[in-house]
Amino acid sequence: MTENPPNDESSRRVSTSDDIEVGTYLEIAQADRVSGNNPPVDERMKTIVIIDFGSQYSRLIARRVRESNTFCEVIAHDAGREILDDQDVIGVILSGGPNSVYDENSPLAPTWVFDAGVPVLGICYGMQLIAHQLGGKVEPGTEREYGHAVVHKDGPDNILFDGLENEVPVWMSHGDRIEVLPPGFRSMAYTENSPLAVMGNEEGTMFGIQFHPEVVHTPQGAEILKNFVFGVCKAVGDWTPANFVSDSVARIREQVGDGKVICALSGGVDSTVAAALIHRAIGDRLTCIFVDNGLMRKGEADRVQNVFAAQLGVNLIFIDGTERFLSVLKDVSDPEIKRKAIGAEFIKIFDEVATEIGEVDYLAQGTVYPDVIESISTTSSASHVIKSHHNVGGLPDHMDLALVEPLRYMFKDEVRQAGRELGLTPQSVNRQPFPGPGLAIRIMGDVTHEKLEILREVDWIVIDEIKNDGLYDKLWQSFAVLTNTRTVGVMGDKRTYQYVVAIRAVTSDDAMTADWARLPYDTLARISNRIVNEVDEVNRVVLDITSKPPGTIEWE
Ligand code: XMP
Repeated sequence: MTENPPNDESSRRVSTSDDIEVGTYLEIAQADRVSGNNPPVDERMKTIVIIDFGSQYSRLIARRVRESNTFCEVIAHDAGREILDDQDVIGVILSGGPNSVYDENSPLAPTWVFDAGVPVLGICYGMQLIAHQLGGKVEPGTEREYGHAVVHKDGPDNILFDGLENEVPVWMSHGDRIEVLPPGFRSMAYTENSPLAVMGNEEGTMFGIQFHPEVVHTPQGAEILKNFVFGVCKAVGDWTPANFVSDSVARIREQVGDGKVICALSGGVDSTVAAALIHRAIGDRLTCIFVDNGLMRKGEADRVQNVFAAQLGVNLIFIDGTERFLSVLKDVSDPEIKRKAIGAEFIKIFDEVATEIGEVDYLAQGTVYPDVIESISTTSSASHVIKSHHNVGGLPDHMDLALVEPLRYMFKDEVRQAGRELGLTPQSVNRQPFPGPGLAIRIMGDVTHEKLEILREVDWIVIDEIKNDGLYDKLWQSFAVLTNTRTVGVMGDKRTYQYVVAIRAVTSDDAMTADWARLPYDTLARISNRIVNEVDEVNRVVLDITSKPPGTIEWE
């Protein structure tokens, strides 16, 4: 990798060719270039470090801190102290975890945490670690405290409870409890079963809380965390969309130097924002590749071309792979074989195009922060994982590209905010997720031109009506499935024998679980009428009322 100072003009080129439409994005990029607005990397955001001890809630702690406009990073409990040099660390949070401090091999807090001279907050297991490692005593509780509890403030001076009542409902989940405080600490709150539910040191720099402020069952938990973040750590709320765009741009420039990047576009939010960020950082050293696999929704391929080539002025290579994809899908009905065939063909085309482009150093990928945290929790080291269902997984060895992951530090809603900040339209930024294998896994049985055309028309009507009724942004996904069943109907005086389509609409937070959406009857009625009237090949519409689990969101 070529090291390049982030303010070096050569690494900050932005495409400004005259023949492209100059939109908001380019204006911002241009203004940024002129003003030198991007902070050098050593002026990074103030950071709260969250040390993960295997709690299922570490990701939630990070979410809450980010919601306070404060940057945070989750690191493994065995990570070294380098982060203190790399970042402007203003506080450390020790997460909960499944262990007991007195068990053999239980993870301890790294000693640098206590020497760093920054405030520390221990949550649940994290609190017990503070007690255990700083000279207090932790014992197995006689009664496991799990579920709702009420915390009573103990003593007047209690910065964590600033602005809160004397009694605060909280969520507990612990077996062990602190019997003896470490020297210099005092009790700050208690519950019926925990005489020491909150503790703090005399200097007001180190705290432990037995309950979980990060979960929704602790309604004022966000306030308590904010009190730590702002009141104790003196955060300034500088993790704003403008700053996380400029931070990301600075990181990309630092990593990529003079290198060249290729990015596969899918039309989805992540690859769109990733490409826009990289373009902002390195201009025309980014080449985007969009392969139209012929399995997209109506108008999608044109929309992607329009956004990238016309609106953003990005170097875009457009490949119409429709015939190639349909030929590898010929007579294939099995969903997993469909997926594999589509994935393999995509990689073949991507490889051919990359070879044509010539020398390329980096591949952009839309990994988002929850993926990173998940990998920290499961491997206890910050290893890079490529999501198996990402369509660029499994590139041939000879491509040998390093990864650039501009969304690596962003949650999904931050990705959307970054997109808006970059001047992308709501249409690009608020899109529902769409699977890589596209309509192929929404067509039961084999995939043909004819079936794709039918489903495109049906899908268009579903989305149109969902949007007209203001439901699009409230649903995780809403779409139609073309079954391979035909039924009898009657149109005018004629008997028909045509396809059945199913409507699938779900609500979800993360696609791991989902519930079928209770769409209004009137919306459903309009969708059904329009489909049967406007799409000749369909004469019956049914509604999928299965949640996930036991169903999945897609039908295949
Ligand atoms: P399921 O159907 O497993 O879907 O409940 C969960 C989420 O993943 C999307 N999905 C895919 N995305 N390639 C993708 O890029 C795939 O093969 C694939 N299969 C499912 C699905 O749309 C939903 O958001």
